[in-house]
Amino acid sequence: MGLLEKHQFIERNATLLLVGSLVVVSIGGIVEIAPLFYLENTIEKVEGMRPYSPLELAGRSIYIREGCYVCHSQMIRPFRDEVERYGHYSLAAESMYDHSFQWGSKRTGPDLARVGDRYSNEWHVQHLVEPRDVVPESVMPSYAFLKETPLKVTDVSMELKANRAVGVPYSDEMVASAKADLAAQADPNSDISGLLQRYPKAKIGDFDGDAQNLTEMDALVAYLQMLGTLVDFSTYDDAAGYR
Ligand code: HEC
Repeated sequence: MGLLEKHQFIERNATLLLVGSLVVVSIGGIVEIAPLFYLENTIEKVEGMRPYSPLELAGRSIYIREGCYVCHSQMIRPFRDEVERYGHYSLAAESMYDHSFQWGSKRTGPDLARVGDRYSNEWHVQHLVEPRDVVPESVMPSYAFLKETPLKVTDVSMELKANRAVGVPYSDEMVASAKADLAAQADPNSDISGLLQRYPKAKIGDFDGDAQNLTEMDALVAYLQMLGTLVDFSTYDDAAGYR
């Protein structure tokens, strides 16, 4: 009996084929799943990650609402061309407070995982108002209305609590001061010592260039400016040596 005939025997016997398939799939499953039970943590600990500040969180909601993820990924893969263009490849820890994550699967525009600090606030506002003013060949839509739309967050404490319910370590103090923190981050004249203690490295300022009004543009730019800026890579042991 040749190999083909032997296989024919299995294929013609439905029960045998079913049992055989099950055995093969189980082996694959065990190889993939069993090691996870022996790892202490699947997310490598890094210095610097913290939950989003209330203003960043609001900006993130606008990012999701406007579908920015349809054209932009937030995950730098560990390949040389990506690392040279965008910076250190993304770490699992960098999206551990993301509900839902924004890795994305389509890049009509560039990856945004480390876009924070790359441009000024003014550049971002100008670009979002009319992308072709700063990048003539851009196909990105205009989001000028964000600058005219007041930021409305019905209950920012609830947003923090919702995130806490799915594992983001917001403290009671963070929840209690959420509303004040949201306003303070976009106001260069406010007392920000508490805010910075709760959310180290938070960018403070009048993001949209209009100090009078807190707009959706303020929140979105605050979010963009923090992307990829939290992890302290000087303390990160880069075993793969991509840096
Ligand atoms: C239809 C696809 C599309 C959508 C939707 C889109 N973008 Fe873009 N984006 C692009 C393209 C293409 C570029 C590159 C050209 C440019 O800079 O305008 C870009 C560039 C950018 C850049 C500059 C990145 C860099 O490293 O130079 C930022 C920041 C950005 N987009 C943010 C956003 C945000 C925020 C939203 C949602 C409000 C958004 N984009 C929605 C296509 C898109």
